[in-house]
Amino acid sequence: MTETRVDTRASGTAVGVFNADELEPGGVRAVQVGRVGVVVVRKRDGSFRALRDRCPHQAAPLSEGPLRPKVISSGPGDYGISEDREILHCPWHNYEFDVDDGISPTDPKKLRVACYPVTVVDGVVTVHMKGKAAE
Ligand code: FES
Repeated sequence: MTETRVDTRASGTAVGVFNADELEPGGVRAVQVGRVGVVVVRKRDGSFRALRDRCPHQAAPLSEGPLRPKVISSGPGDYGISEDREILHCPWHNYEFDVDDGISPTDPKKLRVACYPVTVVDGVVTVHMKGKAAE
């Protein structure tokens, strides 16, 4: 895991974790932001998302699971691939989490992973956290 620059001037803490060009679209990388393990993913459109790197089921590292397009369906026999939604699969029991909101399509009311804002600042992927989590 990699930790680089810490900027506490804004509200919360922004931590630069790696250069954006180090992760190709479709890539997944584990980073440590203070005390929190975070998984950064890069979607097919090149944008980044950051989620807690801990499955809510039995605490598997989600960074070890594959990132795949979300399967969509309007009913039995009709299946397709979402153009813009992507799913991170847990490596242990294959629970799925939408990387845009951390919600599991399997049980959207109960299964969710924390998401963190992520930006690219001067070419560096930067994860933003509130409170003392990133200290
Ligand atoms: S630990 Fe993730 S689905 Fe079981």
